[in-house]
Amino acid sequence: MKYSRMYGLVVVALCLTGCGSREEPMSPAAAGASIGHEEIVAADPGDWLTHGRDYAEQRYSPLNSIDTENVNELGLAWYFDVPTARGMEATPIVVDGRMYVTGSWSIVYALDAATGEELWRYDPEVPKSWAQYACCDVVNRGVAAWGDSIFVGTLDGYLVSLDAASGKVNWKVDTINRQPPYTITGAPRVIQGKVIIGNGGADLGVRGYVSAYDTDTGALAWRFHTVPGNPDNGFENDALAAAAETWTGEWWQHGGGGTVWDSMAYDPELDLLYIGIGNGSPWNQRLRSPRGGDNLFLSSIVALKPATGEYVWHYQTTPGDTWDFTATQHIVLADLDIGGELRKVLMQAPKNGFFYVVDRTDGSLISAEPYVAVTWASGIDKATGRPIEAPNARYVDGAFLTMPSGLGGHNWHPMSFSPETGLVYLPSQDLPAPYLEDAGFEFADGFWNTGIDFRTLESPTDPAVAAEVSKMVRGQLVAWDPVEQREVWRYQHMGPWNGGTLATAGGLVFQGSLVGEFAAFDATTGTRLWVSNAQTGVAAAPASYAVDGEQYVAVAAGWGTIFALLGGETIASLGLENRSRVLAFKRGGIAALPEPPPSNTAPMPEPPEQFANAETIAHGKALYYQRCVTCHGVDVASGGITPDLRYTRPEVHDAWDAIVLGGALRDLGMPAFDSIFDAEDSQAVQAFVIEAANRAYMRER
Ligand code: HEC
Repeated sequence: MKYSRMYGLVVVALCLTGCGSREEPMSPAAAGASIGHEEIVAADPGDWLTHGRDYAEQRYSPLNSIDTENVNELGLAWYFDVPTARGMEATPIVVDGRMYVTGSWSIVYALDAATGEELWRYDPEVPKSWAQYACCDVVNRGVAAWGDSIFVGTLDGYLVSLDAASGKVNWKVDTINRQPPYTITGAPRVIQGKVIIGNGGADLGVRGYVSAYDTDTGALAWRFHTVPGNPDNGFENDALAAAAETWTGEWWQHGGGGTVWDSMAYDPELDLLYIGIGNGSPWNQRLRSPRGGDNLFLSSIVALKPATGEYVWHYQTTPGDTWDFTATQHIVLADLDIGGELRKVLMQAPKNGFFYVVDRTDGSLISAEPYVAVTWASGIDKATGRPIEAPNARYVDGAFLTMPSGLGGHNWHPMSFSPETGLVYLPSQDLPAPYLEDAGFEFADGFWNTGIDFRTLESPTDPAVAAEVSKMVRGQLVAWDPVEQREVWRYQHMGPWNGGTLATAGGLVFQGSLVGEFAAFDATTGTRLWVSNAQTGVAAAPASYAVDGEQYVAVAAGWGTIFALLGGETIASLGLENRSRVLAFKRGGIAALPEPPPSNTAPMPEPPEQFANAETIAHGKALYYQRCVTCHGVDVASGGITPDLRYTRPEVHDAWDAIVLGGALRDLGMPAFDSIFDAEDSQAVQAFVIEAANRAYMRER
C-alpha cells in the first residue's frame, strides 16, 4: 500500500531544492503514499496529514459535500470510547482512511476512519507520578505522520516513532534528559525529515527549548533554547547572547520559562519554521528578573531555519511578561490583501487579548487590535509593536483586575481560517482575575511557582460582587476579519473554554462547546445550523476527511483539567459526564450514543468539626492557594479529575499527613509535600479544607 521509505527520502532530497508547488501528478491517496514533504504541501483534501491540516495550519478543509444546505442531514457515523477519561485535546490525523488520535497519558489509538474500529493502540506507560508535573493534566494534543511512521511526544518527555501499520516502536528518545518538571503535551510537527518537538513546565520552573530529531534514526539534529541560561556557561548562540541583555538578576536559577508547548507553523517557500513561546517562570517578573527588561524570547513568536534551528527573527507580543501571557496559541499563515498589497502574514490571538497580524517574512507588525476585553494595556503602539500598559497593570501597588487572565482571551483551542470568507474563527473568552503579588513566595522545586497570590480567586462572599464577576465571565465563537481587524459575528456560548474550530469549503464552521454541544455554523452569518450532544465537554478541534468519497467530520471529546472550572455539581446538573470519546459524523449517519448513566452525585457528607483557630486556618488557606489550588480547585471545589477535598471521608482525614507529607498517593499523581511543608503546615491546610467543607455544607442545607 505504500511507497518505500526510500521514496520518501528521495522526495525530501528533491524538496530541499524547493517544493513550493505540486509537480508530482500522482495522487497520494490513490497510491497509498507514505508521507513526505510533497504530500503535506499538496494536502489531499481527503486526508488530514498534519496537526493543522497543512503547514500553514489553517484548519480549512476543501471538502464541500457537507454544506450549509445539507448539514442538517449530518448524523453520527461511529463513536469510540477512550478508556482513560482524563480529557482529549488531540486533533485526529487521517491518512488513507486510518485515523491516529491520542488520549490522556499520551496513549495513541489507530482507528479505521470509516468505522471507528480499533486497529492498534500504543501505551507509552507514563509513570502515573509524572502527573504532578503536568500544569494542566495528563493531556496530549496529537501525533505527526511522516514516511510510514507516526510520532508522539509523551507526558514524561520521550519522543516515540511508531510503525504506522502496526503501532510497533521504531525508536524512542529522551528529549528532557529525564529532568522533571518537564512534560510534553503538544503535537510534534515534521519538516524535511526532522521531527520538531517542544515541551511544557514553565509554571513549575524550567528553561524552554524546541528540538529536532531525524525521522529515521531519532538522532538529535538541533536544539533551540528560548531563553538564555547562566551566562557563566556561555550562550548557545548569538541570538541568546543578545536575549540575555534583556534579563536582570539570576533568572537562570529557576529556569526562566519560555516553553514551546503547543503552536508551530511552517512556510515551505520561505523555508521558515515559526514557534510560539510561552510565559515566564515564575509568572511574576519581579521574582524572575527583578530590574525588569523584556526577557526575550518569552511570549514571542520566533522564526527559525528548520534545517539548522538557526534564529531568523522574533516578534514579542508581551515584553517582560508578568501575567502568564504565552504566545503559544495557534499560529495561522495566510496571504492577505492589505491596503492593495498581497502580504505574507502570520496571525495569532495569544493569551494577552490582542489579535496580531505580522509580516512573516521579517516579523514586522502589520496590525494588532483587542479581540476580547483588555484591561492591562490600552493598545499596541504600531510604531514600536509594544503594548501601552495600563497604570498598575504589573500589580505593584496592590491587586489589579487583569483581563484577560492567565487562562487567556484565547488558549490552546485552535482557531481556523477560511480563504473563502477571509475570516478567522476564534474560540475566545473573557475571564478576569485579580493579580496580587504573593508576599510569602518561596521557590519550591518541582511544584507550581507563580509568585501570584491566588487567594484573590476565591468566590466573593458579597452576592452582589459575585454576580458582577460572573457577568464578566463569557465564552464565544467569533468570526474575525484579520484585514479590517474587527469582529464580523459572534455566537455566545454558555461559558468559556469551548472547542477549537474547523472551517470547510461547504461554507461551515464546526466547533464543540464546554457543555458538550458539537455544532455547525454558517461561516458567513454565524447562524447555528446543526447541533449534536457529545455528553461531555468538547475542547479539541475537529478534523474533516473523506473515505471512499464520503466526507466525515470527527472530533475528540472530553475535558480534562477544565473540570476544575465547572465543579462536579454543575457537571452533573448539565447531564454531562467525565469521559473521553472520539465522534465521527457523516450525512445520513445513524449510530447512536449509549444512554448516559443516571447522575449519582452523592450529597456532601457532614464534614468533621473544626479543630483549629482562625490564624491556623488563614495560614492553611495561604498554603492551599499556593500549592493545592491548581489541582483541587478554587473554593476547594474540584471538578472530578482530582478528589473534591470537601467530600474527604473521616478515614482519609485520619491519613492526612501520610498522604500530604508522606506521599502515600504519589503513584496516583498526588505529590508529597514533605520537602516544603512541616507537620504544622499540613495540618493548617487540613484545617482550611475542613473550614471550606463546613461552609459548603452549610450552604447546601
Ligand atoms: C498535581 C496535582 C495535585 C496537587 C498540586 C495536589 N494534589 Fe492532592 N491529589 C491529587 C490527585 C490526582 C489525587 C487523587 C489520587 C487518587 O487517585 O487517589 C489527590 C488526592 C488527595 C487527597 C486524598 C483525597 C481522597 O479522598 O482520597 C488529599 C487529602 C489531597 N490530595 C490533599 C492535597 C493537598 C492538601 C494539596 C496541597 C498541599 C494537594 N492535595 C495538592 C493531585 C494533586
